[in-house]
Amino acid sequence: MKIALYQFAPLWGNVSGNLKKIESTLCRHTNIDLWILPELCTTGYLFNSKTEIGSIAESFPGGQTDSWLMSITKRLNTSVVMGVAEKCNKNIYNSAVIFDNGVHIGTYRKIHLFDNEKHLFDPGNEAPAVFTVRGVRIGVMICFDWIFPEAARTLALDGAQLIAHPANLVLPYCPDAMVTRSIENRIFTATANRIGTEKLSGRHQLTFIGNSQVTNISGKRLGQLSKDREGVLIVDIDPAEADNKSINQNNDLFLDRKPELYRLN
Ligand code: ACM
Repeated sequence: MKIALYQFAPLWGNVSGNLKKIESTLCRHTNIDLWILPELCTTGYLFNSKTEIGSIAESFPGGQTDSWLMSITKRLNTSVVMGVAEKCNKNIYNSAVIFDNGVHIGTYRKIHLFDNEKHLFDPGNEAPAVFTVRGVRIGVMICFDWIFPEAARTLALDGAQLIAHPANLVLPYCPDAMVTRSIENRIFTATANRIGTEKLSGRHQLTFIGNSQVTNISGKRLGQLSKDREGVLIVDIDPAEADNKSINQNNDLFLDRKPELYRLN
């Protein structure tokens, strides 16, 4: 599977402008099986209120990003995982949608909201799900989900071979933590982060750390982008490698677990 990550600074509050920007990048590449784009990459990240983000959040199906995704994935015969602000009834979610060749495969709603996101979004209340795209089992997490190893473990136990991880990272630890998520689950991970700085009415400013990366089942980085420049990272992976949970002749990562001795609550 040829996967591509696009790291950039979304235009704040400008869904059409971001779709145009993303489209021009996607169209410059051929034969990509799966694109992974950052969290909230159609809207930007910092908003004053739920009403403000709600005014540009979109429905799936029904919004312009939904139509655009159906059309672009079909035209380029590719699949896309990307972060969006999703409106569903009265709720607003920080979501990632998955489309393949003109079809909406599924949606994941971020479970673990970070900091001020708690004032903007409703938390997802469904377990992280694994979606099959082109025969590859893809688990989706969004940004801060990384700090809860239970999320990646749940996806791995459900058969995920690759975790697609749209992000707007501000804390510096995540790229290294994702190396560990790979090692402890023997899975590939692909973190598509954003760059740039956003400021909210002069009082709250965030700088995003870039460093988008792909790790293999041994935690090796197969590629990493810079901390502050726009870029595309293209990596070929063999997802079947993630099906082998054997560490050595005597240890299997999953068979050796002792859930009866672990505390979950
Ligand atoms: C984050 O979850 N966007 C830090």
